[in-house]
Amino acid sequence: MKRRPPAPLSVWRTLNLDDFLLGVPHYPEHVDESYWRRDAERMRDAGFNVVRMGEFAWHLWEPYEGKFDFDLFDRAIDILADCGIKTILCTPTATPPRWLTMNYPEVLRVDRNGRRASHGSRQHADTTSPVLREHSRRITRALAEHYRDNPHVVGWQTDNELNTTVSESYSESCALAFRNYLRHRYQTIDKLNFAWGGDFWATAYDNFDQVVLPLPMAPSYLSPGHVQDYHRFLAQATAAFQHDQVRILRETNEAWFIFHNLGNLADIDFRGEFGQDLDFIGFDIYPMLYDEFRRTGGHAATQALQLDICRSYAGNFIVPEQASGLGSQPSFTTMTPEPGEMRRMALSSVARGADGLMFFRWRPAHFGAEIYWMGLIDHDDVPRRRYAEAKQFAGDISRIKDQLLGTSVAMDVGIAGGDFDNQEAHKTYPIGLPSPMDDAALLHRHCYKAGIACGFIHPEDDLSRLKVFYIPHWVMWDQAWTPKVRAFVENGGTLIVGAMTGTRDANNHILRELAPGSALADLCGVRVEEFGRLTAKDGAGLFQRFPIDQGLFIPPNLLPSSSAGRKYSLEIGGREIEAEHLYELLETGSDVEALATWKAWFAKGRPAITSRRVGKGRVVYLATYLGEELVEALTQTVLADAGVEPLIRDLPEGVEVTLRQAEDRKLLFVLNVTDTPRQIVNLPASIDLLTGQRVDGSLELAEYGAAVLSYA
Ligand code: GAL
Repeated sequence: MKRRPPAPLSVWRTLNLDDFLLGVPHYPEHVDESYWRRDAERMRDAGFNVVRMGEFAWHLWEPYEGKFDFDLFDRAIDILADCGIKTILCTPTATPPRWLTMNYPEVLRVDRNGRRASHGSRQHADTTSPVLREHSRRITRALAEHYRDNPHVVGWQTDNELNTTVSESYSESCALAFRNYLRHRYQTIDKLNFAWGGDFWATAYDNFDQVVLPLPMAPSYLSPGHVQDYHRFLAQATAAFQHDQVRILRETNEAWFIFHNLGNLADIDFRGEFGQDLDFIGFDIYPMLYDEFRRTGGHAATQALQLDICRSYAGNFIVPEQASGLGSQPSFTTMTPEPGEMRRMALSSVARGADGLMFFRWRPAHFGAEIYWMGLIDHDDVPRRRYAEAKQFAGDISRIKDQLLGTSVAMDVGIAGGDFDNQEAHKTYPIGLPSPMDDAALLHRHCYKAGIACGFIHPEDDLSRLKVFYIPHWVMWDQAWTPKVRAFVENGGTLIVGAMTGTRDANNHILRELAPGSALADLCGVRVEEFGRLTAKDGAGLFQRFPIDQGLFIPPNLLPSSSAGRKYSLEIGGREIEAEHLYELLETGSDVEALATWKAWFAKGRPAITSRRVGKGRVVYLATYLGEELVEALTQTVLADAGVEPLIRDLPEGVEVTLRQAEDRKLLFVLNVTDTPRQIVNLPASIDLLTGQRVDGSLELAEYGAAVLSYA
């Protein structure tokens, strides 16, 4: 396994390793040592080349302060190596041991109700704590030095799913660290007061020592500037916590690759120091869990969305944990992947940018908070269908990997994504509107179903490979991005700008000029003179979308609003569509054409969607938010006009398709996500790398079947 220095972050970046990492997270400390050799042999027989170990083993590595013991993992690493399995180790900082929380209780997190975390689970310690950071550096250094010359240890994972259980803390040490962050950011208290709007509700401070943490609704609303800076601080603190570990590991052995496995994606700025520090990013993929939590419409579509979001931060990635079977913690359980589906889900990850994958986990634990979280081997130590599928997947990878590595995922439609400030800015003041991601997910799902190559990309990235770039109402549009998107349009691209884009500056102040701010307004040829709410289709009232989970005290009011039943529609291409969430009234320039107009109430006749030709391309402005019907209408008009076509025409329902490509080759992944066979037509003349068979135009895929079609 050889590592090259990583290229700069980009959605088009491929992995900097010369092999596909394939294996499992493994916990030798959970079973009797008599299992170890059999485990290693079975891994070898499955075709694995790596395990990940140690993320929750601080108590074993340092049984009491300053006393280290590497014995157990040394022996486990050796036995695995005998069978050709390399090891990825983890810094074990997600679970500080009891001696640490006893001796240094100040490292424990404090929640928004002032409750100090207790020992007994994980992520109980506060990554903003300087005391925790000191211990994190100590254990990292001890591990790094011990494994410096071990040829079987090939890389490291930092911590485990940072910020997934909880990302916030309201401890005294967190307040101190926040104030230091602000001193550094603003230098003078006047600048902070200006940024947060201190003259509103007398929230100004006399000096930095007075600044408080933004406790939600204690008792009423906070300034968006205050909240935004708290999340910027948390992201910076998370990156700094990780940076300590990365620095030590890099100084010790530069051949090691370093990544982090992400879960919930809270308070992490991937395109900032956090992502720049790593060789690549790892994302844990649990499609059934996220689908049911977030209700995003089917676990295959949810997985695709999650993978495409992940890729936008730093390009191709690895999946350090991919669901294998039923998953559970004491309060929930997920659905079980059906026979064939575990392999299909793994291939879906590869199809959307995974250049390495580990099935979670080798075997389930017999004790602890995840006793029913299944692995490849069952509780009775017998390998059954999940092991067989993992082995089949390993066979798939051995057939495709030489062609796969070095390819990136094609995108015709890029959705602006991966911007920490915009994601947080929405949350500071959501007013019941969909988040940029809620809005983008509608376009993404449409493209997913239609087989259109779609994904997420930051405006600072290389846009030249796209046909269409959609900005889903990013309230903080940085005008420095405008020349990049202008060049994209002048060269023939289609830019679509969503309502509310560019309404606030970096402090969450509303601009003193009309949105979307002068440079972008000139490009779009529109200025927003008024905006207002459109009541929900079901007529529910003001607080229907109220985020009660954020600790707010006003209950959702499900009474119909006073304008319930009123229809707000627009007309596009002779078709009437009901609009949702928001309208804007636009002032338009003389070279701007209306693609759609408002059809009813006082906005009647005013443009609802505009288009302006710029160079070889055009800019489309949406004076509203997306809805399912509007996405469809836009696909038939704007996307079709931009030359966007499905990767495969007449794609049957339940088949997903993506293209991974390099200059000299194309790999078309065609995956049946259903439990019944599918006939697929309009395929390119190609070879299916999974079977070695020629494909001349059509193919039948069995239930959960897959093909990887290779052509030049
Ligand atoms: C991940 C986590 C693992 C395990 C798994 C299943 O989020 O990294 O340690 O908990 O979920 O719950």
